[in-house]
Amino acid sequence: MTAFSPQDKTDLPDFPVFPADFRWGASTSAFQIEGALDEDDRGESIWDVFSNADGKIIDGSTAAIAADSYHRYPEDVALLDGLGVSDYRFSVAWPRVQPAGSGAVNLKGLDYYERLVDELLARDIAPIPTLFHWDLPTPVEDAGGWLSRDTAYRFADYAGLVADRLGDRVARWITLNEPAMTTLLGYATGRHAPGRALLFESLPTAHHQLLGHGLATSALRERGVREVGIANNHTLVVAASDSEPDRLAAEGYDMIYNRVFADPLLLGRYPDLTAFGFPEFPGLRPGDVDIIATPLDFYGVNSYNPTRIGAPAAGSEAAALGLPFDEVPFDATEVTGFGWPIKPAALTELLVKLTDRYPDVLPPIVITENGCSFPDRPENGRVEDTSRIGYLDGHIRAVHEALRRGADVRGYYVWSLLDNFEWAEGYTQRFGLYYVDFSTGERTAKASADWFRELIAASRQS
Ligand code: NOJ
Repeated sequence: MTAFSPQDKTDLPDFPVFPADFRWGASTSAFQIEGALDEDDRGESIWDVFSNADGKIIDGSTAAIAADSYHRYPEDVALLDGLGVSDYRFSVAWPRVQPAGSGAVNLKGLDYYERLVDELLARDIAPIPTLFHWDLPTPVEDAGGWLSRDTAYRFADYAGLVADRLGDRVARWITLNEPAMTTLLGYATGRHAPGRALLFESLPTAHHQLLGHGLATSALRERGVREVGIANNHTLVVAASDSEPDRLAAEGYDMIYNRVFADPLLLGRYPDLTAFGFPEFPGLRPGDVDIIATPLDFYGVNSYNPTRIGAPAAGSEAAALGLPFDEVPFDATEVTGFGWPIKPAALTELLVKLTDRYPDVLPPIVITENGCSFPDRPENGRVEDTSRIGYLDGHIRAVHEALRRGADVRGYYVWSLLDNFEWAEGYTQRFGLYYVDFSTGERTAKASADWFRELIAASRQS
């Protein structure tokens, strides 16, 4: 990887030029696109259980078929090839590879990912597997899930199994996707599987995931894997006002959301959570941070929007729960279909902030997810998603601006290649460059796919 040097020249009218070796890609995850949940001896995951329970998924849907990529992957790889991406980030479903979460390996599961990888390589697209994108095998959850230290060791064993099969041809690996969301949504608030609402008692799940990341990284390296990273989600935290309580609340949120999941990896220590009543990080044992801080080859950043935080107002839900911070909507701002604020400049600020916060230790950054949902609808075989083009255009320019300001960003992956099962939102939020008709599985290019193709082609000619 070579460092970026800013250039003035532009081939796509009015579009900044990225380095010729900048990696362009698209991301997906197994549970959100594969379907075929009962096929080829796949085991059950916490998301199977959660989405089958009443009232957990907003539209009452399940991921039984989703985008049917388990069967349609050759078509999806052809779409990626058509876009001209250099990288495809997908995830490996642990329950397909090791249905019980430990012990016996399911060769049919590994065969599937080998077919997918070979199809990508045949088209000269780098496969970027994520080993854990939230679909924890149910037996592992039954044994305590990420609340149990043993899960970290189970995860590393599974990572080794996948690398035994694919390590000879996959160069770049991602261990965990958004461990913060697993902790905050899965174990703290219960909005995601496994649906535990433990609030601060969920903190050991942060530590055990990070430990799992470190152990898995060693397992991968022992098998000759060259590049290992993680996909951490980050948000620029903005204080609701200059008042002391709001500033402290914003600092606290930044610590829990951003720093708990990055400091141990990059600095080899947890931030000080004494103010939250935790003088020691829950679950931490001597030697753990050395495992967690094993050097990374790249740092994946998933980011969608900034977050405005203030002290909880009296009578608010956050106050009732005893939380030290609360989210405050931004003043009049455009939002995505999900209601997420659209503020591209915040991505520049975030990337510059990460660069400043972790000087000398932050590896090259890859934006492993950025994108937006809108209520897209095909009309006469076309989806004119101009809002998505606007979002992507703004955020890719923001990445360029971060490069100009010294952030070492080497790649950008759109979330997502396809419309898919958006977790607790079911099929109500469409993030894809390709529209998916969930009753037939048919894919239709959105205007944003054509736009992204042109952008990539132009950046290659520069
Ligand atoms: C983060 C997650 O990694 C992904 O699974 C999800 O679909 C997107 N963000 C959008 O919410």
